[in-house]
Amino acid sequence: MHLQGQHLQGQHILSVEQFSLADINTLFTTAEKLELVAKGVVTTKILDGAILANLFFEASTRTRMSFHSAFARLGGDICDTTGFSFSSISKGESLADTAQVISEYADVIVMRHPEQGAVADFAQHATVPVINGGDGPGEHPTQALLDLYTITRHFNQTNQPVDGATIALSGDLKHGRTVHSLAKLLARYQQITFHFIAPDSLQMPPAIIDWLAAKGHRVHCFPRPEQGLPDADVIYCTRIQKERFNAEQLDATPDESQLFSINQTIINRYAKPSAIILHPLPRDSRDGAFDLSTDLDADPRLQIFTQAANGIPVRMALFVHCLGLQDLVGHDFAPAPWAQSKSAPKKPAPQKPAPQKPAPQKPAPQKPAPQR
Ligand code: NCD
Repeated sequence: MHLQGQHLQGQHILSVEQFSLADINTLFTTAEKLELVAKGVVTTKILDGAILANLFFEASTRTRMSFHSAFARLGGDICDTTGFSFSSISKGESLADTAQVISEYADVIVMRHPEQGAVADFAQHATVPVINGGDGPGEHPTQALLDLYTITRHFNQTNQPVDGATIALSGDLKHGRTVHSLAKLLARYQQITFHFIAPDSLQMPPAIIDWLAAKGHRVHCFPRPEQGLPDADVIYCTRIQKERFNAEQLDATPDESQLFSINQTIINRYAKPSAIILHPLPRDSRDGAFDLSTDLDADPRLQIFTQAANGIPVRMALFVHCLGLQDLVGHDFAPAPWAQSKSAPKKPAPQKPAPQKPAPQKPAPQKPAPQR
């Protein structure tokens, strides 16, 4: 009987530093088993009767919803609160009191908070497992797991080991918690070469650079993408996190000449044909934003939507292991009856040019088109 990943049972998930390589592999094996449940093709009631409390005190769409969806797909129920103004914290309640109260209402808690360390403080007072859904510029351990899941699945398909890979991380590496967690999680492997591409004022914190170097990885910092993209097997882009700049940092914000977006021209010129392009999302798609460009959307190297979808099986696996249910996975799998009829909505027929003859499957138009 294997006990790998067993020690996650009943644990808070606060930092990627708590995962061994064996834990990562065990979680990913469970995530693979849950792929069809994640897609809604197969049902399970493994979490029947369990309740997740989703506490999000900072903006979130996919993290909050994918935790919710993962728990619901496993048969559990969810209660949640979003933002300080709708929570008793706005009435002066301490995190310690909130933790003790919510522990009586739920079996596991996911929390996102704008202050680094706040989720760990909260967890000290909780009596059920607490999962860090992002604590300010600190960590985002579940995002790093799903990022790594996306990378390992891609590498498995191309028979490439993670050991020895070159990983480029670009954008706001100073404030981006996803890159802090991902770099530390990748450090579990051997001989990674990290290319950190950011203006000096947004570079990876020196403590993380030193920690990676001390573990024997190669770390190179570059201000421009053309220097850091060649040789990269993975290109992981991030958004500039303006909301985390304090007044002093706003003055120190790099001028626009130091910022860049990663677009098709740059990728064509500098990236390997075999590289994959990732982003934790949301990407800033507004005109003039310095982020991953939407002109890459048709490039097969762009894996950002697969990556976001991977959040469901990975978060499911985490719930299963935190709640000690890994040995029950698969026991009650059944085909989802409604999924038989599940199909992608039909795309609207193009307006121009008007079809010469109506397609045979189409319903008859209300008014016949004029004959030409
Ligand atoms: C990220 C986050 O919240 O840290 N998004 C996410 O969780 N998928 C990245 C970001 O906000 O830029």
